[in-house]
Amino acid sequence: MAAYDYETHTFDAIVVGAGGSGLRATLGLAEQGLKTACISKVFPTRSHTVAAQGGIAASLSNMGPDHWQWHMYDTVKGSDWLGDTDAMEYLAREAPKAVYELEHYGVPFSRTEEGKIYQRPFGGHTTEFGEGPPVQRTCAAADRTGHAILHTLYGQSLKQKAEFYIEYFATDLIMSEDGVCQGVMAWKLDDGTLHLFSAKTTVLATGGYGRAYFSATSAHTCTGDGGGMVARQGLPLQDMEFVQFHPTGIYGAGCLITEGARGEGGYLTNSEGERFMERYAPTYKDLASRDVVSRCMTMEIREGRGVGPKKDHIHLNLNHLPPETLDLRLPGITESARIFAGVDLTKEPIPVQPTVHYNMGGIPTNYWGEVLNPTADNPDGIVHGLMAVGEAGCASVHGANRLGSNSLIDLVVFGRAAAIKAGQVVDPNTTNPTPNQSSVDAALDRFDKMRHASGGTPTAELRLEMQNAMQADAAVFRTDKTLGEGVQTMTGIAAKLDDLHVTDKSMIWNSDLMETLELANLMPNALATIVCAEARKESRGAHAHEDYPERDDKEWRKHSLAKVTGNKVELYYRPVHMDPLTTEEEGGIDMKKIAPKKRVY
Ligand code: FUM
Repeated sequence: MAAYDYETHTFDAIVVGAGGSGLRATLGLAEQGLKTACISKVFPTRSHTVAAQGGIAASLSNMGPDHWQWHMYDTVKGSDWLGDTDAMEYLAREAPKAVYELEHYGVPFSRTEEGKIYQRPFGGHTTEFGEGPPVQRTCAAADRTGHAILHTLYGQSLKQKAEFYIEYFATDLIMSEDGVCQGVMAWKLDDGTLHLFSAKTTVLATGGYGRAYFSATSAHTCTGDGGGMVARQGLPLQDMEFVQFHPTGIYGAGCLITEGARGEGGYLTNSEGERFMERYAPTYKDLASRDVVSRCMTMEIREGRGVGPKKDHIHLNLNHLPPETLDLRLPGITESARIFAGVDLTKEPIPVQPTVHYNMGGIPTNYWGEVLNPTADNPDGIVHGLMAVGEAGCASVHGANRLGSNSLIDLVVFGRAAAIKAGQVVDPNTTNPTPNQSSVDAALDRFDKMRHASGGTPTAELRLEMQNAMQADAAVFRTDKTLGEGVQTMTGIAAKLDDLHVTDKSMIWNSDLMETLELANLMPNALATIVCAEARKESRGAHAHEDYPERDDKEWRKHSLAKVTGNKVELYYRPVHMDPLTTEEEGGIDMKKIAPKKRVY
């Protein structure tokens, strides 16, 4: 057994991660008087939410008619009928309230002439249950909306006396013998000390795992840490095959160019100068759902109509827009295009390509953020003491494909929901149970094993192998052949985790060890992704399977669940929640409106 000293901290609630969902949960918990800690491996305002550009969806009707039911319909259709209906209703209904709360907390939203929150069009957001024109539903702070939200929520959390443990890396969950989460073990990066956080409830808000791929809009910190911790406890990950490619990552660099650029009037062209989206999506064109746009771009490139010497990307045109619009609404991407593509977007198009952007899958939860451990007898059974929110979680509100600007609203609606639920189940007047010593010892042993890993494979080398395999075999379009090969390759790569070599054995600012711990988290996420994708014999949302081009609701309208142990994956399934929270008589949606149908834009 590894001998390490550690300091114990006791809280009612801890939140791991300080992005939008983590900070919204932290704030909500602290506001209720719960003793709350937020543990983050980066300074809170450097969390990946800071990079969110275009905005946050809510049916405020500031720019024209809108309704929460239209938002719900668009989310159901966007999800390709895989989202859980109760969660999607909760999101669309609560969204306006959650945005007005942000406004009152101090988020500096852009404004209309009358002083209302400015809203722009985004892909897949429509009026009249998909029968009317695009809606302006995406509330924006220029093209730096995530930045504005993150700074505001951090300030508000400090005001509520939440305690922050910054640059602490959570290594493992601490679980009781009977499967209740009791907190986490964490490593303080700047002084090398270890810390046991005991909590009555633990909220995982650790973000996505975009860095399982070679090219992603996600920060290098998006390493699926929550999913890794959950998988190590023998709990499943859900719907991992659904990985979103954003249509407009800057060619080569991968940085995001917001969908808001098309919302403000930008459009895509191929090597013939053709606005090709008019052919594929005659009604919504460049504002079709982003999975659709990414596929159309890929088809143009495959058919030889890509731009550039290698004909391997597409042009995004904004030079027809008035310079005042670019200054006012899109200052951030004007700068990104200049720095990362060398383009003056008042004069030239930006070279773009579909780039990995978002994980629809993650840790299964209900719409309160409680983590599920589904079994055949109890598909909605919860893991007591454990919650997951934001991109780390899978509520499942985005199903097989997320609409742009539904991510920021997911963060705040479900971060807030988790805090409300924790307020109901956590009693601040009870003492925390003594953390299970064998779970603490197991966490320390694993840390020590990683620290002293002395195999033959450097971490960076194995990470690159994984990223290349995922990029090649779990791509925009998939086939039985690519997925079969991908499963084989990734199974071999995952086995090599046992052969890692960590050169730096020190405890302070040891980036070699930290990257190794991150790789150990990325790996089960990546392996589950390719195995779930290989098993799903249909096309749905972001999972475009060329050998099974149609959606098959009879066989496949179900959530995939993957338990990962080492390089082995056990797959099983759970039913989609078909029932909404309210009936039509109670003011809810007419179920006929959201009945499955062909998904066209
Ligand atoms: O395009 C964007 O601004 C990204 C938004 C999102 O992923 O929701």
